[in-house]
Amino acid sequence: MEVKEASGGDGKRPPWLHLVSAFFAMEPSDSLISISRDCGGGAITENVQYFIWNHCISKTDGKGHTPYVTSFLKKVVLEVESAADVVIDELYEQLSFYMTSLKEDDLAKGAPRIIREISFLYPTARVCQNPRKVVVPLNCSLNMLEGDTGCSIWPSSLFLSEFILSCPELFSMKSCFELGSGVGLVGICLAHVKPSKVVLSDGDLSTLANLKVNLELNHMNIQSLSSESEDPCEVKCLHLPWESAVESDLQDLMPDIVLGADVIYDPQCIPHLVHVIVTLLTTKKSNSLLRDGSKVSVAPNDQINSDIPNGYDEFVLASTTQPVAYIASVVRNINTYNYFHKVAQEANLRVVDITQNVKIFNFLPYMLSYQRSSVRLLGIYHSFR
Ligand SMILES: C[S@@+](CC[C@H](N)C(=O)[O-])C[C@H]1O[C@@H](n2cnc3c(N)ncnc32)[C@H](O)[C@@H]1O
Repeated sequence: MEVKEASGGDGKRPPWLHLVSAFFAMEPSDSLISISRDCGGGAITENVQYFIWNHCISKTDGKGHTPYVTSFLKKVVLEVESAADVVIDELYEQLSFYMTSLKEDDLAKGAPRIIREISFLYPTARVCQNPRKVVVPLNCSLNMLEGDTGCSIWPSSLFLSEFILSCPELFSMKSCFELGSGVGLVGICLAHVKPSKVVLSDGDLSTLANLKVNLELNHMNIQSLSSESEDPCEVKCLHLPWESAVESDLQDLMPDIVLGADVIYDPQCIPHLVHVIVTLLTTKKSNSLLRDGSKVSVAPNDQINSDIPNGYDEFVLASTTQPVAYIASVVRNINTYNYFHKVAQEANLRVVDITQNVKIFNFLPYMLSYQRSSVRLLGIYHSFR
C-alpha cells in the first residue's frame, strides 16, 4: 500500500495540528469534517485525506474506538464523493474493513468507556515549529448521556484546566483540594504547575475508581491518605460525599485552594456543598499563605477590567491572606445558580464572578464542541465577620 505524506506537513501546524488533536479528543465527526475542510482550503483534498490516514486513522493501531472512527470515515467519504472528488484507496479499504468486521449493533452500542486524549496546545503553537503541548489521556464515557455523571468530561473542567495552565503561579507551592473531581482532568493539570499537594475527591465510588485509572494512565502515583509526601506527581484520592462529610476530617485537610468544576447543579446537594466549602475555607485563617511576604495576584493589572464593580479587588486581597475557592460552572438553571449564591451568602461566603477579570488562554482551539463562553468562574472566600 502506498503511503504518501500530506503536504500539510507533520501535523504540528494549525489547522493540521487541530485536526489531529480533535481526532484523538474524539470531537464530533462534524467538527472533524469542518477542520478537514480548513486544511484543504475548503475541500477535503487528496492531501488532506492522506493526512487523515497517516496521522489519525493509521495511528490508532486498531485501538481507536471503532464506531467513532467508522462514523468519521463515512462522513469523509460522503463529503468527498458528493464533491465529485477522488477518495483515496486507504480510506475506502479501511471503511469497508470496519463495515464488514463490525456487526450493526456494535456500531450502535459502542464501548461503555473510551479513551479521549485532551491536548492543551500552548498558544506559541501558532508561530513555532515545535509547539508545546500537554496531552492528557482520559478513560471516560463517550458522551454525557452514557455512564456515571463523573465519567464524562464537562466543559467547566476544560475551563478550570485552561485557567490553571494560564495562571500557574496561583497554584504553584499551594495545597490544592478538588471537590467532585470526576475523570480527574483538573487534578492532572494541577500536577503540571507544581503545587505542594493535590487531593482529589468524589462522592461516587465508581467515579473514584475511574479517576484512579486516569491518574495511572497519566503516570501519577496515588498516595495513601496518611502519607505526607510533597511530590506533585503524587495525588491523594478521597471518597467524599458532601452529605456525610465529617467536619474534623475536612479540617485536617487545610487546603490553600479549593477547586470544583460543574459541581453546582443539584439543589438538594447545595447546602451540603456549601457546608464543605465553608469548612475547608475557614480552617486556615492565618496569613499562612503569605510564605514569602509577597502578594499574589490573580491576573496582571493591565488585564483587569477595573470598570466591573464585582468585588474582584477584595477577592484578590483575600487570596493573599486566606484560603480561596475557584469554582467553574455552566449556568444551566438560573434558579439553582441563584440558590447556590443565596446559601453561600448565608454562610458568610463571598462569591465573586471573576470570569471577566482573568486572562485565560485558549489552549483548546480545535475543540469546536467546547463553548468556553458558557462557563463562569467564581472566586470564593470566607468573610470572617
Ligand atoms: C457534573 S460532574 C463534574 C465532574 C468534573 N468535575 C468535571 O467537570 O468534568 C459532577 C461531579 O460531582 C460529583 N458529585 C455530585 N454530587 C456529589 C455529592 N453530593 N458529593 C460528592 N460528589 C458529588 C459527581 O460524582 C461528579 O463526579
